[in-house]
Amino acid sequence: MSQFERAIIRDLPDSYTEGLTPGKFGMADIDLAREQHQKYKETLEKLGLEIIRLPKENAFPDSCFVEDPAIVTERVAILTNLGAPSRKGEAALILPILQKVYGTHIERIEAPGTVEGGDICEAGNHFFIGLSKRTNEEGAYQLAKILEKYGYTSSIISIRSFPNILHLKTGISYLGNKLVICHSQIANDCGLDDYRKLIVKDEEEYASNCILVNGTVIMPKGFDDAIRQVKEAGFDVIELDMSEFMKQDGGLSCLSLRIPKLAF
Ligand code: GLY
Repeated sequence: MSQFERAIIRDLPDSYTEGLTPGKFGMADIDLAREQHQKYKETLEKLGLEIIRLPKENAFPDSCFVEDPAIVTERVAILTNLGAPSRKGEAALILPILQKVYGTHIERIEAPGTVEGGDICEAGNHFFIGLSKRTNEEGAYQLAKILEKYGYTSSIISIRSFPNILHLKTGISYLGNKLVICHSQIANDCGLDDYRKLIVKDEEEYASNCILVNGTVIMPKGFDDAIRQVKEAGFDVIELDMSEFMKQDGGLSCLSLRIPKLAF
């Protein structure tokens, strides 16, 4: 799925800088983050997506990272059970819009299973499920069963030994036609032998998280070697300044739930 019709986004809460982050890139500037978020929204619109904009939720500092409480496909939406205690309530927040878009075509990850959407990398009809500090084995098992029920395949990639990778998609993005862009660790150690790989330099690891939207790859600005590789692979690239999301351990994929044409 790289053709999308709609995207769900959520406005940044006033508490944005209190979200989960190792803090290695400093304190985020919320006004600048809001400007960057606006450009992100405009870029998705330019690429043909209708934006479903949800209001800010100040009780949940990470709630603008809407990718984590749900996984959306053309056949089903899956409500997750987030692994981070401070984010658990985000699933209930996203449910009403999922019900509006997906009706009854919704499944759920149940405790003790935990899954965060950032750990789930869709690659056509196949899904890589990342085992991380946020997504556990029980959650991965439940998700694999749900995906199978809807005709998708899945495989598991553990990222627990990679200290810089919060979610699987922090370190890998799928660009269609069996091509991924990823961290060298993921390229070497995660059984991706069937895939062609663009490998990002260690100093550009943040650029492993990018999104293919209706034929164009949106990438974080300032990661020149990664951007060159993606252009040389034949893609149009739009660069967005993501500095204030990088500081909060968020990336391009985390900021939206991109919905393809539904199959039902
Ligand atoms: N700040 C994003 C997360 O840790 O989930």
